Amino acid sequence: MRLSARAYRLESSTIREILKLTERPGIISFAGGLPAPQTFPIDRLRAVCDHILATDAAAALQYSRTEGYSPLREWIADYRSTVDRRVEAEQVLVTSGSQQALDLIGKVLVDTTRSVLVERPCYLGALQALAAYEAPFTCVPSDEFGPVPAAVDAAAARHEVSCLYVVPNFQNPTGRSIPLRRREELLACAHRNGLIVIEDDPYGELSYGGSQLPSMVSLDPSCVVHVGSFSKILAPGLRVGYLIAPPTLLPRLVQAKQAADLHTPTLTQRMVYETVQQNFMTRHLQRTRSYYAEQCRSMCSALRRYLPTVTDWVAPQGGMFIWVRLAQGTDASKLLTAAIAENVAFVPGAPFYFDHPETNTLRLSFATVPAALIEEGVSRLGGILNDARMTSRSGPTLASIATA
Ligand SMILES: Cc1ncc(COP(=O)(O)O)c(C=O)c1O
Repeated sequence: MRLSARAYRLESSTIREILKLTERPGIISFAGGLPAPQTFPIDRLRAVCDHILATDAAAALQYSRTEGYSPLREWIADYRSTVDRRVEAEQVLVTSGSQQALDLIGKVLVDTTRSVLVERPCYLGALQALAAYEAPFTCVPSDEFGPVPAAVDAAAARHEVSCLYVVPNFQNPTGRSIPLRRREELLACAHRNGLIVIEDDPYGELSYGGSQLPSMVSLDPSCVVHVGSFSKILAPGLRVGYLIAPPTLLPRLVQAKQAADLHTPTLTQRMVYETVQQNFMTRHLQRTRSYYAEQCRSMCSALRRYLPTVTDWVAPQGGMFIWVRLAQGTDASKLLTAAIAENVAFVPGAPFYFDHPETNTLRLSFATVPAALIEEGVSRLGGILNDARMTSRSGPTLASIATA
């Protein structure tokens, strides 16, 4: 069968392949990016679902508007408005997870003629979504505060550019956040170069201390498409996310969504809307934040205890990930091979780089592993790293383990 040229270009994610390995029984996996089921508000979701089906089943199970369930759009607009900036419900498009928002943005803003600027390292799902629209990517060097504005200017001077993609809060994969000053500089840079900023923010509400920096869309709504999600703060299986776009762009995004799936499931949109009523999110987010903060503390104390001092990592202030930089010359995929043999897994950093991967990096997720196993898993990693033979080890390859 002959497929489209586009289909031949699609690649399966390296991380999905690694995750398959980690599904083996007995493995302590820091590899997955899944939120912890302990944070899902199951009783509340069951109650609102029963209520919706008992009182309004016909509408809840019917086709609905592409833009989304109006009361939910209004709630999102209020939730995302600040004292200085009002978001209008007409700027909100409810999407099937924030991943779909990235795909729709790709469809509407990306083509072969203009570069998309991405972070180094970058959320892999964004690279996948935007690559489908044949975006030429340009990686922008980042420091500990995020993409470097001068590097954005330099890239824009070299190429025609369309968008800058950033995850400003507790980034996947590094856990770092972009400080306010850098956000402002990047927005100024976007204006100078005629760029749309794609602000992908699924983790902002998982700030352990509860405080959040102003979103880029609240600082300058004219050049930002903000992407949000209920996956990490309610449950990902609902598949409810959203985007907030300038009024001139939204109709195009709505058309793109219409062609993709007509609308996000009516039932789960209504479930999200009913769930967030009566200020439920305030209490729920407090519980969710303390859960992740505790998980993060367990992993940081294990890293302090067991990882060699030559490794470098920063304790995140929110989110689900810790980024570790191993000693120069240590290959994280080689470490993974050795770790899997000892029933521990993580994701090597290389796949998160569009080009010139830093192979001595890796991502650890502490979201779903019980504290005692976090300690055990990190101590095994430390044991392997402290083993002088790690660098010269000629053990089995990942591929041979995968097929074993
Ligand atoms: C940075 C980032 N953006 C988007 C997504 C997609 O999330 P969802 O489609 O569940 O909202 C993820 C998922 O992990 C993510 O880490």
